[in-house]
Amino acid sequence: MPFSIGIVGAGQFAGSFAKLFQLHPGVGDIYVTDLLPERADGLVKQLGLAGSVASYEELLASDVDAVALFTQRWTHGPLVVQALRAGKHVYSAVPMAVSLEETEAIIEAVKETGLTYMMGETSHYNPATVYAREKIAAEGFGRLFYAEGDYVHDMDLGFYDAYRYSGGERWKETASYPPLLYPTHSIGGILGAWQTYATSVSAVGVPDDRGDGVFDRGISQFGNDFSNATALFEVAGGGSFRTNEFRRVGYPSHIRESRFRFFGTEASFEQLATVSFWQDKTGVQDVSEHLQAVPTLAADDPSLKNVAPALRDAFISGTAPVHDCSRLPREFAHAPNGHEGSHHFLVDDFVNSVNEGTLPSVNAWVAARYTVPGIVAHDSARRDGERLAVPDFGDPPR
Ligand SMILES: NC(=O)c1ccc[n+]([C@@H]2O[C@H](COP(=O)([O-])OP(=O)(O)OC[C@H]3O[C@@H](n4cnc5c(N)ncnc54)[C@H](O)[C@@H]3O)[C@@H](O)[C@H]2O)c1
Repeated sequence: MPFSIGIVGAGQFAGSFAKLFQLHPGVGDIYVTDLLPERADGLVKQLGLAGSVASYEELLASDVDAVALFTQRWTHGPLVVQALRAGKHVYSAVPMAVSLEETEAIIEAVKETGLTYMMGETSHYNPATVYAREKIAAEGFGRLFYAEGDYVHDMDLGFYDAYRYSGGERWKETASYPPLLYPTHSIGGILGAWQTYATSVSAVGVPDDRGDGVFDRGISQFGNDFSNATALFEVAGGGSFRTNEFRRVGYPSHIRESRFRFFGTEASFEQLATVSFWQDKTGVQDVSEHLQAVPTLAADDPSLKNVAPALRDAFISGTAPVHDCSRLPREFAHAPNGHEGSHHFLVDDFVNSVNEGTLPSVNAWVAARYTVPGIVAHDSARRDGERLAVPDFGDPPR
């Protein structure tokens, strides 16, 4: 029986997902709310949705079955708990939360209510992660002992426009959002394949020197001046992974913004902006084509109207050959996608979990493993790289 859903936050990211929820046969009526009502009304009109709702509180008081949060990145924790406590299933854009307390509160609320919570981590279905997941399942790496995940996206490549749209006149206060508090693309791409979790971390932050008021501690809502950061994590079972969160970097993020490497005792996988290689002790296999997401949309597609032009490449990519599209509803065949084909799989996972009462792929426990290490890494960077223990909330209950 299709369930109804309320989209919360009709900014740059929500459009593509609203369209997919609309197309999915497991979803019924779709409502929208935004602090700026004209954004909610605009999305309702553009897609012909069921209607807009004046506030989040009003949406939670309604008989809508689920909410999908697309609000700014530092806002999710309390909104998720509020929705679960109001009896709604929750799909949340990344990150899960910005503190350990918020993370714990979500896990508690999921345990107590038994409702579905899923974090929409796009790297979970990044072609490189899907590929590594398959190789790990087939024991192709031998013993995996090291991995790297980078989210490399320069502020000049669309983020200034995005933060202006997001933050209004006082946008500089939030454009300084700490890179390590947005850790899920780099960590999720690794742990989405490697079945382990971080146990400790040491991180280094690079104080910004652009001098334009962004990443200025005096202006930043987060007291943050790091624009680039690197973290080295120890993992359970032996081994380590290293992540980079770069916001000032000479790199073509419109070609690839998340990139991964995995090293095992028998084989390894390495990715650059345009190529991906599988390697063993005898040689190198170019697997780039297998992992290449094929664009499905034009950059001027109406679903992208709120997205800054320099960010649109991330939203036009469809699936790659490595993806198993046979599991998707046929209604998605010509639908907008994005982030290397991941949007279709995330929406399908959430909808099926709600309808079948099963745990979604990126459930609260997995989401915590993708998010918490970054929160602790940011603390470590602020303490000059002090090595800190990373708490783990455990495996999901069976
Ligand atoms: N690859 C990815 O997974 C990826 C990519 C882009 C964005 N995102 C995530 O998507 C989320 C949204 O990003 P965006 O760029 O669309 O942000 P945005 O600032 O463009 O839009 C957020 C919207 O939420 C609204 N809002 C905020 N609080 C609200 C509330 N309490 N009730 C109703 N509306 C509220 C704002 O008015 C705004 O219109 C962020 O969390 C971001 O991290 C993820």
